[in-house]
Amino acid sequence: MTHLLILGGTTEANALAKALAEQGIPATYSYAGRVENPRPQPLPVRVGGFGGAEGLANYLRDHAVTHVVDATHPFAAQMSRNAAAACRKAGVTLAALTRPAWTAQEGDRWQHVPDIDSAVTAMSGAPQRVFLAVGRMHLEDFAAQPQHHYLLRLVDEPGALPLPNCDVVVSRGPFTFEDDQALMRQHGIELVVSKNAGGTGARAKLDAARALGVPVLMIDRPALPQRTELSNVAQVLDWLAHS
Ligand SMILES: NC(=O)c1ccc[n+]([C@@H]2O[C@H](COP(=O)([O-])OP(=O)(O)OC[C@H]3O[C@@H](n4cnc5c(N)ncnc54)[C@H](OP(=O)(O)O)[C@@H]3O)[C@@H](O)[C@H]2O)c1
Repeated sequence: MTHLLILGGTTEANALAKALAEQGIPATYSYAGRVENPRPQPLPVRVGGFGGAEGLANYLRDHAVTHVVDATHPFAAQMSRNAAAACRKAGVTLAALTRPAWTAQEGDRWQHVPDIDSAVTAMSGAPQRVFLAVGRMHLEDFAAQPQHHYLLRLVDEPGALPLPNCDVVVSRGPFTFEDDQALMRQHGIELVVSKNAGGTGARAKLDAARALGVPVLMIDRPALPQRTELSNVAQVLDWLAHS
């Protein structure tokens, strides 16, 4: 009998969970446990790490998982590597539900950097008002450039922050072009720092940056393991039916 495990935490994973529940396909949704109140799902949910690739392989065996869909964020590279290794080890079929990377359009002023460390290095220089849209996990890295004034947008109210000058907006998204343009105007933003997440939910800040002529430091995606890549829920259902 089919039992699918969704590695989630993304809009795509949520859409897949809805479709599987509607079709009555047995599945479990896995959250890392990074946010205080994760969105409820119409499927059984588990929360927290598995304990590396070995732990995930054990989980797959213990719970008779037949298929894994890695629908994590494109920057959740460790989880994706673990998923590939664990599925190989446990003999479980794996596919990834992915979204295309964003590409620059006419009028965009993007500087590409390969990773977070390079983004931090690229920000040495005079103080600027920076919209740092990289999530909570990497704020420590930017403490190496304390001269800037940072605007942070976070899912949960943060505790102590490693950045001396910052404003925090607590919001979960998705975000609109109008709101992001107003936010960036209000804070006098001179630079946006963004991961190349792809998708629609976080795209608005890039459209707002283009409209305002604000440059973007774009952090390119990490390398991910080779796996079957699917780009929408219909493809996942088709893959499930035929694998
Ligand atoms: N990175 C981002 O920018 C970003 C943005 C939006 C949402 N997210 C979501 O946030 C979660 C964590 O992302 P990350 O970048 O911190 O991951 P990561 O660095 O690749 O993963 C680190 C560890 O967190 C645990 N983990 C990650 N995703 C998990 C999941 N869905 N279920 C159970 N355990 C998980 C695993 O722990 P063990 O080794 O103990 O199994 C993994 O080794 C993911 O669900 C991702 O989709 C990430």
